[in-house]
Amino acid sequence: KFVMDFITDDRWHYLTDGLKVTLEITFLAVILGVVIGFILAVVRSTHDKTGKMKIANVICNIYITVIRGTPVVVQLMIIYFVVFGSMDINKILVAILAFGMNSGAYVAEIFRSGIMSIDAGQFEAGRSLGFNYRQTMMYIIMPQAFKNVLPALGNEFIVLLKETSVSGYIALQDLTKGGDIIRSRTYDALLPLLAVALIYLVMVMIFTKLVSILERRLRNSDH
Ligand code: ARG
Repeated sequence: KFVMDFITDDRWHYLTDGLKVTLEITFLAVILGVVIGFILAVVRSTHDKTGKMKIANVICNIYITVIRGTPVVVQLMIIYFVVFGSMDINKILVAILAFGMNSGAYVAEIFRSGIMSIDAGQFEAGRSLGFNYRQTMMYIIMPQAFKNVLPALGNEFIVLLKETSVSGYIALQDLTKGGDIIRSRTYDALLPLLAVALIYLVMVMIFTKLVSILERRLRNSDH
């Protein structure tokens, strides 16, 4: 009966509309996260390698420590209820901002380990070709580092996809909230929540597969 009702009335819209919101937040948050993470990583590795950018480095370190040291759902609520508390702002935008800023701190570490994974000889090679620090970073270190971190960025996408399930805390109707609305209206908890879980699972499996294909391709192109 539940399944029949599910198909005959418009109930499933909660899941499809929710899925759209979930994907929208995830995609845009990952992009914002990569931009923020890249900037943080550049500042920190410039400081590591040259000792310049002292103040910017301190700010980046505080940002990373605070963001990684507090739950993303608390950050989401602070941005929505405190920062934009008295403003009429699009909730999806708030979520993209919150998850993007959160992701940036994690992506910074991904980029940094990617930069550090490049042999010091590559850096010296760049400098002996007459490149300055910036040119060496841009033309020799970054392209190799970026390639090394691509799979990790794919994983970040998967993490964020699941992480956005707390969007309901600011009354956003994402996939999880959609399932929860169906649960509260039908008094049936099992099927809607199972459906939500299944949709996440299928998406995660698809993206995991894509990341592993990417990983294999990148490895092969090394030869
Ligand atoms: N769930 C944890 C938290 O609430 C981890 C978040 C991980 N985020 C990420 N973009 N990798 O903070």
